[in-house]
Amino acid sequence: MSIVKIGVIGTGSISEYHLKPYSAHPGAEVYAVCDLNEERANAAAAAYGAKKVYTDYRELVADPDIDAVSICTWNNSHAEISIAALNAGKHVLVEKPLCRTVEEALQVQEAVSKSGKLLQVGFVRRYDPNAQMLRTFADNGEFGEIYYAKASYIRRMGNPGGWFSDKSRSGGGPLIDIGVHVIDLCWYMMGRPKVKSVSGNTYSKLGNRAHIQNLSRYQAADYNAELNDVEDMANALIRFENGASLMVDVSFSLHAKQNEGIVKLYGDKGGFEIDPEVCIVTEKNNTILNIQPQTDSAGFQFEKAFESEIAHFIDCVQHNKQPLSPVEDGVEIMKILNAVYESAATGKEVYL
Ligand SMILES: NC(=O)c1ccc[n+]([C@@H]2O[C@H](COP(=O)([O-])OP(=O)(O)OC[C@H]3O[C@@H](n4cnc5c(N)ncnc54)[C@H](O)[C@@H]3O)[C@@H](O)[C@H]2O)c1
Repeated sequence: MSIVKIGVIGTGSISEYHLKPYSAHPGAEVYAVCDLNEERANAAAAAYGAKKVYTDYRELVADPDIDAVSICTWNNSHAEISIAALNAGKHVLVEKPLCRTVEEALQVQEAVSKSGKLLQVGFVRRYDPNAQMLRTFADNGEFGEIYYAKASYIRRMGNPGGWFSDKSRSGGGPLIDIGVHVIDLCWYMMGRPKVKSVSGNTYSKLGNRAHIQNLSRYQAADYNAELNDVEDMANALIRFENGASLMVDVSFSLHAKQNEGIVKLYGDKGGFEIDPEVCIVTEKNNTILNIQPQTDSAGFQFEKAFESEIAHFIDCVQHNKQPLSPVEDGVEIMKILNAVYESAATGKEVYL
C-alpha cells in the first residue's frame, strides 16, 4: 500500500493531535506543513520531520507530491481551503466545525462531489472507542428507538480568546466551538434523524472572564482577550421529524460551580450515558440495571479518539472508502448550528 503524503495546514494548538498520529502511522508521512506564522510552521516541521514548509496554503495544495491535507486553521478558512484542496485533487480532513455557515457548507459539498475526492469532517467524538462501542449496541437494537437526548458542555471560564472570540473568524462562540461536538455526537447516536425545527437562546452576560485568576484555560495559539463578540452561552431544543428531541446547553462563561460535560440518550428499550462516564441503563426480570461496560476508560479518550480519526482517514484514502463523518453530516450539523443562532436572534422557532 502506498504511503499517503500529508500536508497539515494550520500548526496551532490542535495540530499536534493530527501531526503526532500521522507521524506514528505506518501508512502516512507528514510531508508538508503550512501556517501563516512561519516560525510556528518551522517548529512543527522540525518536530515531525516535514520536508516542506509553506506560509500560503495555495502553494501547499498545488504541490503535486501531496495526496491529502488536514485543515487545522481558524474556522473562517475551512471552506475556502477545503474547496481549494479538493479542486487541486487532494483528499481532505477538516477540523470541526466544517465551516461557519450553511452556504459555505453547501459549497464544500459541491466541491466534494465535483472532485470525486473524499472529505472527512473532524467530528472526533464519533471516533472515541466508547462511542464506537455504544454505536454497536445501538445498531443491534439494544436501546430500541432513541427518542430523547440531553447534552451539556459547560465551561465556567473557558473562552479561548484570539480568533475563537472573534465572530468574523470563528462564526460564533461555544455553540459552534464545543456545542458542535456534543450535538453531533447525540445526532450520530440517534441515527442521524432529519431535523424538523430548532428553538434556541444565546446570552452575552459575563464576557470572557479574562480577569479571573488561579484557573487555567484552553487558549488559542495567538491568545488575545481584547476582542470578544461571541456569545457566552447558548441553549437549544432540537426537534426531529421522527418525533425525537435533543436538549443542549453550552458555555464559555457561566456562573456554574464547575465545568461539566453531559451526554445522555434515552430509548424505549434502554438508555445510555457517554459523558461524564459511559453507562448503559436497561431493565430485565422487572429490575432496572445500570450496566458499567468494561472498557479501557470510562470517559472520553482525547488522544485515542484523534488517533482513530486519523487512522480512519488514512484507511479511507488508501481503500477509497466513505468516511464515518462525511461532508453531508457536516452540512446537517451546520444547519442546526445556524438555526440555533437564527432562532436566538429572532426569538422564534426555526423550521428547516
Ligand atoms: N477536535 C477538537 O477537539 C478541536 C479542539 C480544538 C480546536 N479544534 C479546531 O481546530 C481548528 C484550529 O484550532 P486551534 O485551537 O488549533 O487554533 P490555534 O489558534 O491554536 O491555531 C490555528 C493556527 O492556524 C493558523 N492559520 C489560520 N488561518 C490560516 C490560513 N489561512 N493559512 C495557514 N494557517 C492559518 C494560525 O496562524 C494558527 O497557528 C479550529 O477549527 C478549531 O475549531 C478542534
